[in-house]
Amino acid sequence: MNRILDWEHYLRTAADAAAEGIVMLRNDNGALPLNKDETVSVFGRIQLHYYKSGTGSGGMVNVSKVTGITDGLMEAGVKVNEELLGIYREWDEANPIDLGSGWGAEPWSQEEMPLSEEVVENAAAKGETAIVIIGRTAGEEMESRVEAGSFLLTDKEKDMLAKVRAAFKKVVVLLNVGGLIDLGYIESTAPDALLYVWQGGMTGGTGAADVLTGRISPCGKLPDTIAYSVEDYPSHAYFGDRERNFYAEDIYVGYRYFDTFAPEKVRYPFGFGLSYTTFDVEVQTCEVSGLTASIYVKVRNTGKYCGKEVVMMYLSRPQGELGQPVKTLCAFEKTRNLAPNEEQTLILTADLSDNASYDDSGVTGNKSCFVLEKGRYRFFIGGCNSEDSANIELHETAVVRRCEQALAPVEAFERFRPLPDGDGFKLGFEPVPLSEVDEDARRLERLPAELEYTGDKGIRLADVYRGEHTMDEFIAQLSDSELACIIRGEGMGSPRVTAGTASAFGGVTDRLNELGIPAACCSDGPSGMRLDCGTKAFSLPNGTMLASTFNKELITELFRCMGMEMSVNKVDCLLGPGMNIHRHPLNGRNFEYFSEDPYLTGTIAAAELRGMRESGVTGTIKHFCGNNQETNRHFLDSVVSERALREIYLKGFEIAVKQGGATSIMTTYGKLNGLWTAGNYDLNTTILRKDWGFTGFTMTDWWAKINRRGKDHDESDFAAMAKAQNDVYMVCADGDENPDNTLESLASGDLTRGELQRNAANICRFILTTNAFRRTIGEGDTVTVEGRPQEEQTSDEPVVFYDLTDGLSIDLSAVKSVKGTNHSFALTVLEPGWYEVSVTASSQQSELAQIPLTIFAMGTASGTLTWNGTGGALVTHSTRIPMFSRFTTIRLYFAQNGLDLISIDFRKDKELASLTDISDKED
Ligand code: BGC
Repeated sequence: MNRILDWEHYLRTAADAAAEGIVMLRNDNGALPLNKDETVSVFGRIQLHYYKSGTGSGGMVNVSKVTGITDGLMEAGVKVNEELLGIYREWDEANPIDLGSGWGAEPWSQEEMPLSEEVVENAAAKGETAIVIIGRTAGEEMESRVEAGSFLLTDKEKDMLAKVRAAFKKVVVLLNVGGLIDLGYIESTAPDALLYVWQGGMTGGTGAADVLTGRISPCGKLPDTIAYSVEDYPSHAYFGDRERNFYAEDIYVGYRYFDTFAPEKVRYPFGFGLSYTTFDVEVQTCEVSGLTASIYVKVRNTGKYCGKEVVMMYLSRPQGELGQPVKTLCAFEKTRNLAPNEEQTLILTADLSDNASYDDSGVTGNKSCFVLEKGRYRFFIGGCNSEDSANIELHETAVVRRCEQALAPVEAFERFRPLPDGDGFKLGFEPVPLSEVDEDARRLERLPAELEYTGDKGIRLADVYRGEHTMDEFIAQLSDSELACIIRGEGMGSPRVTAGTASAFGGVTDRLNELGIPAACCSDGPSGMRLDCGTKAFSLPNGTMLASTFNKELITELFRCMGMEMSVNKVDCLLGPGMNIHRHPLNGRNFEYFSEDPYLTGTIAAAELRGMRESGVTGTIKHFCGNNQETNRHFLDSVVSERALREIYLKGFEIAVKQGGATSIMTTYGKLNGLWTAGNYDLNTTILRKDWGFTGFTMTDWWAKINRRGKDHDESDFAAMAKAQNDVYMVCADGDENPDNTLESLASGDLTRGELQRNAANICRFILTTNAFRRTIGEGDTVTVEGRPQEEQTSDEPVVFYDLTDGLSIDLSAVKSVKGTNHSFALTVLEPGWYEVSVTASSQQSELAQIPLTIFAMGTASGTLTWNGTGGALVTHSTRIPMFSRFTTIRLYFAQNGLDLISIDFRKDKELASLTDISDKED
């Protein structure tokens, strides 16, 4: 199929998402929209370094250009105080930002420019409005901390806010952050306007300017509750524990907790967000049919600006035996852009059976079932009169779905439950039901039938595609060793697929290719493609921002565009959406994820998947499940009740599978109730496939740990993974050869051929849906990109591979160091270890010139080498880089012109020889 990707439309759609995701918390004193005739002073160095996303795998999109907030304002015709901008530029040049060195090492914030009263007063003389931008990154292997520069403001930021507040009539504070930060100090300075502008990707500044200038009225809503203090969140006492994290708050996450137990602790509620205009939201009629309720809501724009409004439908359940939160979100819709006085009727529909509760203790008489306890169920529209609701009265408790106990904890602890207290509830506790299941015995009872081995009958995967042979006939041809290979993902940077991507899977050996199984390609994810070889890609708003839009159609359209861009780059499967629950505001990866609410989470993920599918590709929903903290993430045990898993932590995934048609899933790094998810049968088989009917394929997270119940981890235990029906281990250095135990376990009978054949079929069924496969039969999708600027064009030149051994020297004399460009190549690491990497260059620039070159290894900044003018003399600078992955892409990024490059040399670092790969290290 031929598709057209209109780059302008892509940019506009992303900017719209970056505008619609902005959440305005206050706007007094007519501060916004800005008056275009007036000069605006922008404070905060982040105006020069807009955070398009956080860091780590989810933030490594190599973009050609990022439009920051000041750029966006100037492009929108706002008069920005250029003198102040000049002061920032000069200071920034002399005080370069710190990118950090190594994985997860970028500082959470950058040092702010000190402000003198004179600078602020001079600026205030030019116009009455100031914008202050506070910036924070976010990231993998990091956590936000209750420290200055992280969750709290630094002294310099406080000083900036105080001085600006004292001098300006109108102060607008913009939070260019990945997740929540403390608002205490900010609000104490009484800013006139306060907006979460999140991290909006490469067009984030355009979106922000659209909102600030009033081109788009703010219409984002909070996907999380903002409490007064971080200690107010119910998981606070447990979050961050390195060993074992008890989810004692159970299903009472986010607003489910605050509404039920502690409404007074809420600074801004879930779903909150102001607009420039006002709306009248009126329930017109309610319809009930069986267990389904529909509420018709008329929304009228009663203000002076055009704008969109989000309408949310909630469900309140009877307390019953189980105990329930006061309300849960069950549907939402967003209006089109309504002109003043214009109205639109929205229909919100939800079904009680999708909102049933899981009885994990048997207290309702229906253990391990989704139940609707008898009583009155009330569907209502948030913020509307509680009389206007659709009610369903159940006279008997109904079982909606029978399941079997799975994933329950093995360790005793107590969880929250509401106890009636006057008109409200007080916090009580009850013991969590424990597991009575032996997963391995369950697995043995359900072993898949084995297909008799036929040897190569000449059946190729394309024959299955054409319906000439069945998948079983095809799979029956695979030998033990072919089956052992197909469950290996190869990477990172496998030369079998697009250079610099996370993995190849499926056809990871020549023999599998002969059988007609191509290597399909996975790339991070989630907000744009991570192409470590330096290829430019589009960077989208982060997950939290997308969720804040509450706009399913817009998100689908955005990911339809991205899907086409994936096809252009021969990427079949994005490693995203990330959809873990915002259990606690300090989680470093919250920026990639959507919300504290599972319905919103699942619905947004489904919207993304729909968009990618329309473009012939797909995404991988991750991390399945309970990946809610970065601290010690490879080893942490999340101890969670089955009810909380089913209703909160699995729920979004279930929606993405059932409604979003997800076909690819990544498990987590850590343990869930004692068992690493990579080898967890009940997670990957009982719940995912048996309960939900999932028919796609699953993969581990990269170099994940695996264990068996009661045993320690053993990464070579691919058999444990395969038995659990987690299909692909991500990643192995070489698909052909790997020190795993698959063949040995087959021989001993610990793992059956039937199990491996089943996994191979899961993988092959998925491969059949990919472009990688369609290309093998001449039916690959083509995408014509229209209107992409020249500097964005990616080169078709293949990335050159060198064999890395001690002493490798690569001639760079033909490479031009042009500001803002990259030079990339790839290494096949024949001798793994730490290397001293030295770059030799000269420069004719002045002695005081600073000419930095940053070396990225596998997309991670691994050292910035800075030359001054050398008067033409050769000068060598070095850094140390761990090279343990078999394929490593190296990208040299030139932040300035003016280096005459000679060579890059690699020397094995004998002193560090004893250190192994950082990914093996307990953090
Ligand atoms: C992350 C995943 C990511 C993978 C590949 C891991 O560190 O947890 O989300 O997709 O790396 O880059």
